[in-house]
Amino acid sequence: MCGIIGYIGHRQAREVILNGLKRLEYRGYDSAGIAVIQDGLGLYKKRGKVHDLELLIQDLELNATSGIGHTRWATHGVPSDVNAHPHTDSQSSFALIHNGIIENYDVLREDLEKKGHTFHSETDTEVLAHLIEEIQKMGSLGFYEAVQQALLQVDGTYGIAVVHEEYPDQIIVARMGSPLLIGIGEDEFFVASDASPIVGYTQKVVYLEDEEIAVITRDGYEVSTLKNVPHTKEVHELALSLEQIEKGGFPHFMLKEIFEQGDTISDCMRGRVILNENRIQLGGLDGYVDKLLKARRIIIAACGTSWHAGLVGEYLFEYLAHIPVEVEYASEFRYREQLIDENDVMIVISQSGETADTLAALREAKKRGALVIGICNVVGSTIARETHAGVYTHAGPEIGVASTKAFTAQVTVLAMMALLLGKENRTLSEESMKELLSELDSIPEKVNEILKDTSEIERIASLFTYAPNFLYLGRSYNFPVALEGALKLKEISYIHAEGYPAAEMKHGPIALIDEHMPVVVIAATDHTNEKIVSNIEEVNARKGRVISITSNGQSSVNRLAEFSVTIPETHDCLTPLLTSIPLQLLSYYIAVNRKCDVDQPRNLAKSVTVE
Ligand code: AGP
Ligand code: GLU
Repeated sequence: MCGIIGYIGHRQAREVILNGLKRLEYRGYDSAGIAVIQDGLGLYKKRGKVHDLELLIQDLELNATSGIGHTRWATHGVPSDVNAHPHTDSQSSFALIHNGIIENYDVLREDLEKKGHTFHSETDTEVLAHLIEEIQKMGSLGFYEAVQQALLQVDGTYGIAVVHEEYPDQIIVARMGSPLLIGIGEDEFFVASDASPIVGYTQKVVYLEDEEIAVITRDGYEVSTLKNVPHTKEVHELALSLEQIEKGGFPHFMLKEIFEQGDTISDCMRGRVILNENRIQLGGLDGYVDKLLKARRIIIAACGTSWHAGLVGEYLFEYLAHIPVEVEYASEFRYREQLIDENDVMIVISQSGETADTLAALREAKKRGALVIGICNVVGSTIARETHAGVYTHAGPEIGVASTKAFTAQVTVLAMMALLLGKENRTLSEESMKELLSELDSIPEKVNEILKDTSEIERIASLFTYAPNFLYLGRSYNFPVALEGALKLKEISYIHAEGYPAAEMKHGPIALIDEHMPVVVIAATDHTNEKIVSNIEEVNARKGRVISITSNGQSSVNRLAEFSVTIPETHDCLTPLLTSIPLQLLSYYIAVNRKCDVDQPRNLAKSVTVE
């Protein structure tokens, strides 16, 4: 979680850091803080958004050309001024920002308190600052060595950046489990938890790996392991532009990202759907297809929206390629009995490529010999780097905390993978392949058709803005879409919503239905349509308010539903790519009507790098 930015060079650090924090704010927005070295340590921090920090320091003369900044997603201690980062040692001679969790902080804190340290915050991070101080004092060590030694004593995860008033020309950074990269400019260097805050300055980056520590000065950077083994790092070129991370005229990133989906699905398929040769080409899987085909089973591990995409993937792989699939919450998988070995294949799905639970599942599976394939959006992310092979979703940066375009791109990748395997496996005839490829190819156009007129969805949103509950029902490929629709509404509107397989309604949730309950029914798959019509009848009989998402031809559904949003027809197995879009819009318009903070919903963060 949290955003980290650091700068050392010739510009005013304040500007670089504040601008960077604004770009990073989607990663955490409980508080923000900045530390610069200018006649000693200057430390400013504030509960709330980056804007609040900006107001706090706007009249100060801060000309320092190096410093660090942080936006927090609280894990230990409430969002408050005191708990905001940076944290310092007792003398306030250095300042530290941290992304992650120091798991043994309580033992360390107790010990440090006995040694006379006084803590001001409730955070785990402050313990690390005091531990560095204590080690330096007791061992008469240099500052860098003390940081190194302290990190060897902590359990858990961290991405840290530290500045010290006695060493104004250096920033020390280190990583264990939380992403960190160094940006290389002309006589200037940056450190950041992702590339978004530095893309306006440089395209050259070096990714730190776990247990690496680096000292960055105005002249360069040196990377080594915590145990002092020097590392030479490869410099990567970012494929990210400023335009991609700006709102481009939309009021919110989420809306921009919803409207981008025609393009992002197209980008995801580019060079991969080869219509004239009736095949799918996924370069990232070269050399691994055989293993996938021979897998005893595929285990898909992911969290949140990516897990929902994984569920669609299960239906796709089983239907198109006849390969058994299990979909696991990554967080559950890693603590279960690990019945996975070299006969299995794991597919991990992650927009950010940094989700701690997913990364942990990946590592468990790898340790036990399974081939692990990644479906990630962020190029160069930890998950993308640690998997054996993978397919990028190429949806471009997703800034809105509620995932939208990443979901449809993930489903597109899963559909392409299932088609590729189905063709190789001969579970798909040439004829069906042709039909499905051409359907897939026409999806972006159909997405744009849905987006052309959103008035009916806006009308429905305004009627149900203050509904306290929602039920989402879907069957087959659209059961995961029901879950995803409900998650979107919960995340950004704070309305309680449940997603269910439509037939499960009668086993319990039907008790919730009365004349106040909006029930969104996703009724766009032909082969389950008759059944879903009966489910709508059941809701109607209890006076529920049915909002249906149907394709043009489904007149019986349209007749029965009080409200209908129609979408273009496509093959059953591709409908999630279309049905998810009205649901994203519904949650968006309801959240706007309720004056919720759409891009930065309460309590959430874009990338969850803690367990
Ligand atoms: C989606 O709207 C959520 N904010 C969240 O569930 C997210 O999908 C989940 O945290 C997984 O993230 P990842 O795809 O970056 O791994
Ligand atoms: N665990 C630290 C805290 O609660 C860091 C959280 C973060 O990554 O923002 O302050």
